[in-house]
Amino acid sequence: MEAVADFNITRVEKSKLAGISLENVPFGKYFTDHMLEVDYENGQWKTPQIVPYQSLQLAPSLAAIHYGQSIFEGIKAYKDQQGNPQVFRPQDNFRRFNISAARMQMPAVPAGIFMEGMRLLIDIERNWIPEAANHALYIRPFMFATDEAIGVRPSEKYKFLIILSPTGPYYAAPMRIYVEEKYVRAVEGGFGYAKAAGNYAGALLASTEANNKDYDQVLWMDAFEHKYVQECGTMNVFFIIGNTAVTPGLESGTILDGVTRDSTIVLLKEMGYQVEERSLSIDEIMAAYKEGILNEIFGTGTAATISLIKELKYRDFIMTFDVDTWTIAPEVKRRMDAIKYGLEPDTHGWIFKI
Ligand code: COI
Repeated sequence: MEAVADFNITRVEKSKLAGISLENVPFGKYFTDHMLEVDYENGQWKTPQIVPYQSLQLAPSLAAIHYGQSIFEGIKAYKDQQGNPQVFRPQDNFRRFNISAARMQMPAVPAGIFMEGMRLLIDIERNWIPEAANHALYIRPFMFATDEAIGVRPSEKYKFLIILSPTGPYYAAPMRIYVEEKYVRAVEGGFGYAKAAGNYAGALLASTEANNKDYDQVLWMDAFEHKYVQECGTMNVFFIIGNTAVTPGLESGTILDGVTRDSTIVLLKEMGYQVEERSLSIDEIMAAYKEGILNEIFGTGTAATISLIKELKYRDFIMTFDVDTWTIAPEVKRRMDAIKYGLEPDTHGWIFKI
C-alpha cells in the first residue's frame, strides 16, 4: 500500500484491461481495476482508500437499502489530442452532488475527497479512457447510508465511492418518445432536482410501459395538469421552435440542473439562437408542429450527451421528424465534443486536466 497525501492506495496485481475492448463498449457494463472508497462516521470522513474494484460486504439492515438514502453523479473523462486525460465540468457535478446530499439529509463530501479522489483515480486508470468518437470513461461518484438499523431517520454513517466505467454511446439511434400522462417523475416540493436513486427507481415503470408500446422513453409532464414538460427519460430536453430554443426552467425544483443542459444553453447562445428557460406546454408544442416551426427536439445528459428525438406521441397525435435534415443539435454536439476531446480550445473553463 502507498500513501498519497491523505489517500491510501492499494493497486491490483494484474489489470483486467488486456481482456476488454474499449470500442463499442455498452454503457455501465465494465468497470476499471480500482475504486475509491471512504466512510463517514462520528461526523467525520475517514481516510479515503483507492483499492481494487471489489464487492462490498453490507448488513441486511443497511439503511440505504430500506429507505433509499442514496445519491449519485455522472461525469465523463476523455483523452485530448495528445492522449492526456481531461474531465468535462466535474466541479459542476461536485456542487450538484452536495445539493443532492443536503436534500436527502446526507453529509457534504469535501472537495479534497470528491475532486482529489476523482483526479487520483483517473490518473491511475488513464489507460481505460477510450479514444473512439462518442466514447468516454464514465465516472460514477455515489454515496449511501450505512447505519445498520431500520428506524426511519437520517443515517449517522455513510459510504462514498467512485467507480469508473469505459463507455460507448448511450442511445444508438434517434429516439421515439411517449408523452407520459399517467405517471409523474417529480412534483414541486419533492426532490426532482436531486440526483437521488429513488428518482430513477420511480421512473422505471413508466419507461417499461413505454418500451412495451415500442417507445424508447417517456416525456415527463408536470404532476398537476400533465401539461407542462419536465424532462425526457433521464435527460433534460430542448425544443427548437422557429429560431428559439426552449427548455423547461429550473425554478420549480422538479428538474435536474443538468451540466450538459447548461453547456447546451451556452453553446446555443454562441451560435446565435435565443434560448428561453420557461414552462412549455404540450399544446404549444403541438401548435408549433402544426405550424411547421417545431424544427428539432433533443435530450441532453452526461450519459446520453445530445440525443435526437425523431418521434413524439401525445395521445393519438404523432409528431415525426426527419432528423437527417437537422443542423442545430448536431452543431451543438460537434462544438461540445470538440472541447471534450481537445480539438478546439476550452474558452469556457469547462475542462479539468488530470
Ligand atoms: C447521466 O447522464 O449521467 C445519468 O445520470 C443518466 C444515467 C442514470 C444513466
